[in-house]
Amino acid sequence: MSPVVPPLIIDSAGLGRRLAELAAISEAPAPVVTRVLFSEADLRGREYVRRAAREAGLTVREDAVGNIFARWEGSDPSLPAVGSGSHTDAIPNAGLYDGVVGVLGAFEALAALRRAGFKPRRSLEIVMFTAEEPTRFGLGCLGSRLMAGSISVAQARALRDREGRSLDELRAAAGYSGPLESVRLPSGYYHAFVELHIEQGPLLEAAGVPIGIVEHIAGPSSYRVSVVGEGGHAGAVLMPVRHDAGLAAAEIALAVERAAKTSGSPDTVGTTGVFRIEPGAVNSVPYRAYLEIDLRDTRLDSRECALTEIRRAIAEIGPRRGVAIEMTEINADPPAAGDARTIAVAEAVCAELGLACQRMVSRAYHDSLFMARVSPTTMIFIPCRNGWSHRPEEYASPEHIAAGAAVLAGTMARLAI
Ligand code: GLV
Ligand code: MN
Ligand code: MN
Repeated sequence: MSPVVPPLIIDSAGLGRRLAELAAISEAPAPVVTRVLFSEADLRGREYVRRAAREAGLTVREDAVGNIFARWEGSDPSLPAVGSGSHTDAIPNAGLYDGVVGVLGAFEALAALRRAGFKPRRSLEIVMFTAEEPTRFGLGCLGSRLMAGSISVAQARALRDREGRSLDELRAAAGYSGPLESVRLPSGYYHAFVELHIEQGPLLEAAGVPIGIVEHIAGPSSYRVSVVGEGGHAGAVLMPVRHDAGLAAAEIALAVERAAKTSGSPDTVGTTGVFRIEPGAVNSVPYRAYLEIDLRDTRLDSRECALTEIRRAIAEIGPRRGVAIEMTEINADPPAAGDARTIAVAEAVCAELGLACQRMVSRAYHDSLFMARVSPTTMIFIPCRNGWSHRPEEYASPEHIAAGAAVLAGTMARLAI
């Protein structure tokens, strides 16, 4: 492939400075980054993103749920745009790279193209998606789900946070109005979509490869489980007559592990990440338990097989222990496949830049899971130290971030001409 993009210079120092500036906007002291949807830190982070977009010469607009779009108009604005982007919300006790590299890195990619004199035919557009993380509403990828039409407006309106506040209430307080129906993208809006992200796993670092190109994104699902048993005095209620909700919940968590391990697929992963018991007193039999289960796979059949096994276990545990168990689905999303042509373009750009790359599965979910439903999509991964993510020690080197931004720039440019 002959070079179609002039040589690019990524301003690695400037990008590093902006990453540090955004990291300082946090609900928790450094090095911890916490920016929960529509918190004060998230609102200040959004202001930072708007300013950084304008500094990169982009035109900013926002939709009714707070997705921020930053656009470089192409010479033929009637053509579907080439999109990129990620998120800047951060779970409690997070690091500074998850999502943010894909937003600020994309701004730098477009700034580098502009400095190199590139003139896009298709418009180039960066999105900062609202609430990729599930922290506030228990549901991830809220902005991209709505953009792709993968959640109905009625379902979005029914969302409540732990304090019982609705999406409509919170978005209005954050300054976002207008009908949620308008968030959905018109069909064919993007010609292609490419998200830059840290790998959040150890494979690239272990292989010594600077770039991963995502072929598949595993399908996430999650469930709430409520267990109601019978409480009582830890000394007085004898073992044969107990209906301990905590122990029933413990059996369910073990059943989740067993189901994931025996689904027939090495890609099935099951996690009981939320486990609460009440009253939570050492001398009281737990009368109630609340669990949240995360179950993922690259294949739907093996995920379904694990789910069936979890349901079977629950149906057996309840009567045996004399507790009432209720399981409700939060989300059950199919996996997504990367687009062969977009992947080939990213690989060609890596070859042109002399950067080794390998194809990968993303086991974490991303907004690209939903963009892939409405656009040819792939992701560009860069290594992160020890595969660490969702913790303050998360780290990606300036060299790898710059390499990722250069591959993103080259890929977007090739797709835009
Ligand atoms: C996203 O943060 C995920 O949980 O995969
Ligand atoms: Mn994350
Ligand atoms: Mn992320």
